[in-house]
Amino acid sequence: MGGMRVLFSAADIAARVEALAAEITSTLPADFVMVGLLKGAAVFVADLARALDRAGARPEIEFMRLASYGLAKESSGAVQLLGDTPADLAGRPVLLVDDIVNTGRSIAYAAAQLRQRRVGHLWTCALLDKPQRREIEVAIDFVGFRVGDVFVVGYGTDYAEKYRHLPYIGTVE
Ligand code: IMP
Ligand code: MG
Repeated sequence: MGGMRVLFSAADIAARVEALAAEITSTLPADFVMVGLLKGAAVFVADLARALDRAGARPEIEFMRLASYGLAKESSGAVQLLGDTPADLAGRPVLLVDDIVNTGRSIAYAAAQLRQRRVGHLWTCALLDKPQRREIEVAIDFVGFRVGDVFVVGYGTDYAEKYRHLPYIGTVE
């Protein structure tokens, strides 16, 4: 593997997360449940939750785990839930949070699982959106950054489980 090119620095991300939290707080009721998709969204959820607090929201935090990409850069296309959906979400306003929306399959699948549990209003949020790669039409209500067709790592996102710890988002050259 070659060098790393920084796309969004830690400071870029922090500023955008703060602005997203303000957008979310002005749209959602004060009490809602954030449901993050593991593992990729863990870092984003942790920062977004604290930005939401500063913006005056009081989110609960839950996670769901979807079957991962494995070690490849391309999704197999088949998404699977590992474990269960969070309990007691019926009627609750939910903000579904993922790191990246690519084909749309993961977030669409997670949203369908939550709707089956009869959650209340469901909003979606992704730190990164790759609209050029979309295969399934899915509305993303809150987007951190739009990017082209590039494979990124860092800030929770991985390549073969590496780079999740990086404080910035970059591309491996
Ligand atoms: P989708 O199901 O094709 O929309 O893919 C979304 C999932 O794949 C996200 O939850 C990410 O974890 C992962 N993913 C998509 N693009 C990238 C990338 O560029 N780097 C790392 N993970 C990615
Ligand atoms: Mg993921």
